[in-house]
Amino acid sequence: MSRILTGIQPSGRPHLGNLLGAILPAIQLSQDPANESFFFIADLHSLITIKNAEERRQNTYAVAAAWLACGFDTSRNVFWRQSRVPEHTELAWYLNCFTPFPMLVNATSFKDKSEQLSDVNAGLFMYPVLQAADILLYDANLVPVGKDQKQHLEMTRDIAASVNHQYETEILVLPEARIDEQVMTIPGLDGRKMSKSLNNYIDVFLPEKELRKQVMGIVTDSTPLEEPKNPDGDTVFTLYSLIAAPADAQKMRENYLAGGYGYGHAKQALHEAILKKFAAEREHFNHYMTHVQELEDALQAGEAKARAIAGETIKRVRAVLGY
Ligand code: ADP
Ligand code: TRP
Repeated sequence: MSRILTGIQPSGRPHLGNLLGAILPAIQLSQDPANESFFFIADLHSLITIKNAEERRQNTYAVAAAWLACGFDTSRNVFWRQSRVPEHTELAWYLNCFTPFPMLVNATSFKDKSEQLSDVNAGLFMYPVLQAADILLYDANLVPVGKDQKQHLEMTRDIAASVNHQYETEILVLPEARIDEQVMTIPGLDGRKMSKSLNNYIDVFLPEKELRKQVMGIVTDSTPLEEPKNPDGDTVFTLYSLIAAPADAQKMRENYLAGGYGYGHAKQALHEAILKKFAAEREHFNHYMTHVQELEDALQAGEAKARAIAGETIKRVRAVLGY
């Protein structure tokens, strides 16, 4: 039995990149009966950048609604808000005291983000330690994450190994990152990585008209309608081929190469393909967002399961540390 664990920050509504790159592959892993999945909402991490309480509450619901709408089975797995299990922060403190200062100073994400953000707070600096606590608290074996998180998993293993070495026990389980090289970086409207912070995302849960407007906003080159077009490297075609049936993607490729097929046609086809592929998910998402009590019920049931496991780990750690 493998324990799979991953977290998503409630930094906005999940977009197409989050769904294809993280949520759907994780749900697929969770459907293997040999796995037990721990998926949580990293709402403590989000305080680093989001200070508005109502904004975080709404984002938290949106992330929860996306997981449930995409079919995560919370009855068989564990689904919770990080902030509701205080053991995350307790373990993070212990781990802080085993984390070499230079490891945090040299972390790539700290270097990148501290240059971009105007508010460089200590939370941003200690972010990887809280993430290590999230993982080690549940003895997770496998952590599916994007490439950008690879270093955080290496740090988690280093910190855990340092505790184990100090106390000469295997008290913490060393996790493996699962970075799916197959899962490509989904391009956004401007061709760069689709991201909330670049404001270049497609929100598949938007009402039809607004979704259409986003899709129509995808940047393309200025090849005239009559002329043949190169599908490779074109954002509309790339997104379409990830969403539509392979035969339909092949058809669009041929249309591009033949000429007489404009980007407007391709965008229209992409819009329809998104509506078709995510029809059920869109309906479920809207249902949950208008029935947040159902989200609360699922999260609260998960919180109880998470607390029971986290409590056991913390007891074990306290005993070893002499508390
Ligand atoms: P964002 O860049 O929009 O803030 P996050 O960093 O919160 O997204 O990412 C949450 C999860 O979604 C991570 O596992 C990340 O790897 C995945 N993800 C985000 N954007 C993309 C993308 N464009 N392509 C593939 N996966 C993505
Ligand atoms: N840092 C991750 C991100 O921004 C979110 C996260 C927090 C996480 N704790 C985690 C991911 C533990 C995996 C495991 O995408």
